[in-house]
Amino acid sequence: MARGLAAALLALLAASVALAAAAPADQEGDRIRELPGQPPNVGFSQYSGYVTVNQARGRALFYWLVEAAPAAGPIAPLVLWLNGGPGCSSVGYGASEEVGPFRIRPDGKTLYLNKNSWNKAANLLFLESPAGVGFSYSNTSMDLYTAGDAKTALDAYAFMVNWLERFPQYKYREFYIAGESYAGHYVPQLAKLIFEKNNGTENPTINLKGFVVGNAVTDDYNDYLGTFEYWWSHGLISDSTYLNLKKTCLFDSSEHPSPECVKNLNLASSEEGNIDPYSLYTKPCNSSASLKLGLGGRYLMILFTALVVQSL
Ligand SMILES: *[C@@H]1O[C@H](CO)[C@@H](O)[C@H](O)[C@H]1NC(C)=O
Ligand SMILES: *[C@@H]1O[C@H](CO)[C@@H](O)[C@H](O)[C@H]1NC(C)=O
Ligand SMILES: *[C@@H]1O[C@H](CO)[C@@H](O)[C@H](O)[C@H]1NC(C)=O
Repeated sequence: MARGLAAALLALLAASVALAAAAPADQEGDRIRELPGQPPNVGFSQYSGYVTVNQARGRALFYWLVEAAPAAGPIAPLVLWLNGGPGCSSVGYGASEEVGPFRIRPDGKTLYLNKNSWNKAANLLFLESPAGVGFSYSNTSMDLYTAGDAKTALDAYAFMVNWLERFPQYKYREFYIAGESYAGHYVPQLAKLIFEKNNGTENPTINLKGFVVGNAVTDDYNDYLGTFEYWWSHGLISDSTYLNLKKTCLFDSSEHPSPECVKNLNLASSEEGNIDPYSLYTKPCNSSASLKLGLGGRYLMILFTALVVQSL
């Protein structure tokens, strides 16, 4: 009897393992065999495709999943990555220049491995968000004029729910949300929405564990304060400029700073000299140096308002 039960259990277990291992067909359809110019035998899988977030309006978001390297183990966490902007592509920035697995060589044709890729520890789900950004689109053009934080969060939530139907192996997996710059809005707002939707569910499919934001856009006051403290504590600006920036900018709108604030931002810029504010310890590249000179004080604004092209 006991032996019969054990055998039955084993058979059941084998069946469920087979079930878990068989990827749904539409998941397989999203598999990336190899990117153009990619190094061979990278040892991890990639997928990309569209997930519809609103059937009636024909709105779909584009994702690129880079699975964790084998050394990360079989149940490495899932990390959703969101760039900011608003309007920045997570594929173009986060994936290709920052935390993703590949870097693009100057020839624009070949890729090499990023030795600091986050997929050494986690499965990375890069999402182009909201619709209209990167490869994400809507068949209802009006959607592009009615975007906003609340809708962005609702669409990202709908994306996660529908994406998990295509990738059920990630249901209940430890889940984190990460991003930068204007995603200082997107990330915590999506986290809050998931937290609310999960409320009362003992074992939620979106198993949110935490979130992280770099260079976050929070609000003008805190973004100015943090930026000035950072410049000053890294020895980039003088004590007096630091004090004057706080005196003249802190209570301004970053989109419409007062002339005194602009004057002090320009002063800070000249004290900083030719540096890359995003990477203090590396050589500035000439194109960003000329951008800085060309835009004068306005260049500094991109650190917190994310209005200018180069902003993330
Ligand atoms: C958008 O329209 C195209 C062309 O009709 C269609 O192929 C596509 O499926 C639509 N997208 C969505 C998300 O409905
Ligand atoms: C969770 O649900 C309970 C019961 O409906 C409600 O009282 C509480 O306010 C909810 N909490 C959040 C964070 O939504
Ligand atoms: C920038 O240009 C200068 C002179 O035109 C050159 O010497 C320098 O190497 C360039 N810097 C970079 C990072 O390419």
